Order: sequence, then C-alpha cells, then structure tokens
Amino acid sequence: MGRLLTIDELARETGLEESLLRFYESEHPQELPEKVLRGDLLLFPPQAVPAFLRIHARHTGSRTPPLHRYARVIAVTSGKGGVGKSNLALNLAVEMQRLGRMCLLLDADMGLANIHLLAGVDPGADIREIIAGKRPMAELILEGPEGIGIIPGGGGVLQLADSNRAQRLQIIRALEEVESRADIILVDTAAGMGPGVRDFLLAADEILFVLTPDLTSLADAYGLLKALHQAGPAFPPARPVYSVVNMADTVQQAAGVAVRFSDCAHRFLDREVGNIGYALKDATVGAATMRRTPFTVFRPQARVSRNVHHLAAALLKDERPGPRAGSAFGRYLQMAAAGMR
Ligand SMILES: Nc1ncnc2c1ncn2[C@@H]1O[C@H](COP(=O)(O)OP(=O)(O)OP(=O)(O)O)[C@@H](O)[C@H]1O
Ligand SMILES: [Mg+2]
Repeated sequence: MGRLLTIDELARETGLEESLLRFYESEHPQELPEKVLRGDLLLFPPQAVPAFLRIHARHTGSRTPPLHRYARVIAVTSGKGGVGKSNLALNLAVEMQRLGRMCLLLDADMGLANIHLLAGVDPGADIREIIAGKRPMAELILEGPEGIGIIPGGGGVLQLADSNRAQRLQIIRALEEVESRADIILVDTAAGMGPGVRDFLLAADEILFVLTPDLTSLADAYGLLKALHQAGPAFPPARPVYSVVNMADTVQQAAGVAVRFSDCAHRFLDREVGNIGYALKDATVGAATMRRTPFTVFRPQARVSRNVHHLAAALLKDERPGPRAGSAFGRYLQMAAAGMR
C-alpha cells in the first residue's frame, strides 16, 4: 500500500495548504481514498496525493497542477560519535547517484567537518559569503566522486552555526534554494542533538540512525530519538526513521542490534523504525580514507561497498512516486516563523 501520510506530509506532497485540503476533503469525500486510523492519528494512503491534486486542478481550472520537484532530505545521524556517519553518508550518496538519482551531500557537522577530506575535494567558497547574501548557495556546491554534489562544512559554518539560531535559519533558507536541483539531499550531522544539529534533524524529511554493535551506541541512539520525539509537532509520529548497523562483525550481530533499537522505539515511544540493513566492519574503509576516495569508488567489489549498494537500494525502495510539491527546508522555515520550534 505504501507509506501512510499525515495531513502535514500531504500538504507538502501536494503543495496545497492544509486548510485547502480539509476543504476539499469535506466537499469531495467520494473522490478520496479511505483514511486509516493509527493510534489517534488519521493517516492518508499515498493515492490521496493525486486525488487531491485532481480536485485542486478542477477547482482552479488548470490542467496541470503547479508541481515542482524537491529533493528528499535524509539526515544521517547517531547518538554517539565515530560510528561511521560521514563514511556512510558519502558512500550512500555515491551509490544512489550510480542508481540514477541526483545526490547532494551536505556536511552539517559543524565541529569536525570532514566530508571534503573523505571525498578528496577542496572546500571552495566560504559560507559566510552566502549568509551575507553575497553569493548564492549553488556556488558552494562542489562536484564530488561520480558527479555527486557536495556542500562542504567547516570554516565559517562552524562558528556561525553554533552561535546563532538566526544565522542557522539563514543557512537553511539558502539551502531551500538548492532543494529543487537534487533528487536526494543527504545531511551528514554531528552526533547527538546539539543546537547546531537540531534544526537540520527537525527539517529533514527522514532520519537515518547509524548504530554499531557497541552497547553505548544503542543507548545513545535511543536517547537521541527520545529527544527528537519530545520535539512534538516538529517531529510528527509519521516522520520516517530508519536504522543502519555499521561495523558489525556478522549479519546476525547486525540484525540483533537493529531489532533491539526498533523494539525500544516501538515499546517506549510508539515509533516505528525501519532497518535498511547493515555494513560490516571492513579494513577497506580505512584504506580508502588514506586515499581520500570513497570506498565504493576505491573498491566497488569490497564487502562493505556491496553492503552500501544494498543500503542505497533499500532507501530508494521507499521513494514516493512522482514529484513532491513542497520543500523540506521551506516547511521548516514556515514552522520556525510560526514559533513552533
Ligand atoms: N564499516 C566500517 N569498517 C571499518 N571501519 C569503519 C567502518 N565505518 C567507519 N569506520 C571507521 O570509523 C571511524 C569513524 O568513521 P566516521 O568518521 O565516518 O564516523 P562519524 O560517525 O562520522 O564520526 P563523527 O561522529 O566524529 O562525525 C573512521 O576511522 C572510519 O574509517
Ligand atoms: Mg562524521
């Protein structure tokens, strides 16, 4: 049946105001698919998107609804540091690009930006110029391996993003500008929910938790999910959360970790976490880092590279058909303006 949508997500998918959706719902119930009750939430099946757009097109007399393409924004995160977020984010971007998606990788690790090191590119413009409005965000995008786009972190971002929320929102505003240029934007964050990370986590469409077999990784990841959960409407129950287990010794070990995380999330937070797979521990990762090359480029046939290929395919399986009409960063800015975060 596909993933069920909240009214908020439906508004984003269709690009229509929530109040307008409610109006169409009351006027044309017979043209809309049945809603589904989950807990105390009423959710819409994915077929509701074209159905609402058809009604809207008729109302406005336009044949083609005003659809733009916006990227799917996925934040890669973890409770504990050093679990492999940056490596996975970079190599996932490479693999999804190979699978035909235009990928943009944003280094949002304000403390220890290192995507440019792993990808072998030199950071270009200073983000301060973008914040000051002197240069467009698009100029900051570097061409990375396999043609992925990279927005490097560090430098100006480090101080600016950590010090001032208004400036952070300014970065998000600048990012909104590039959202229609990519199919997927992967955001590599720092661990935990520091002030520099929070906005990016809440703005993203989906969150990918990187776990390891290490016990503290699981506890810290749960702590982070709980903190997000407590953000209330900024992190609605239907917002997709995934896990990936990195640096496992065996597939069985990885599966055990994933199940423990999703069990805790389900039991204590009533949240569903979908596991997209695992990447085993592999010396190829370190060897590729030494060469400043993503491991999927350095050794595409290595075990860990094949693992990441499957992870990319699993993420793409959950892709919604058709273009999205709303922007993730735009939605977040609207909520911020309304004082909801
Ligand atoms: N599957 C793997 N097999 C072996 N080593 C790995 C694997 N994944 C990551 N590593 C190693 O783990 C270390 C941390 O990786 P990485 O920098 O990607 O983690 P991170 O979560 O981004 O860290 P931080 O929280 O500091 O940003 C690196 O030395 C990397 O080479
Ligand atoms: Mg990192």
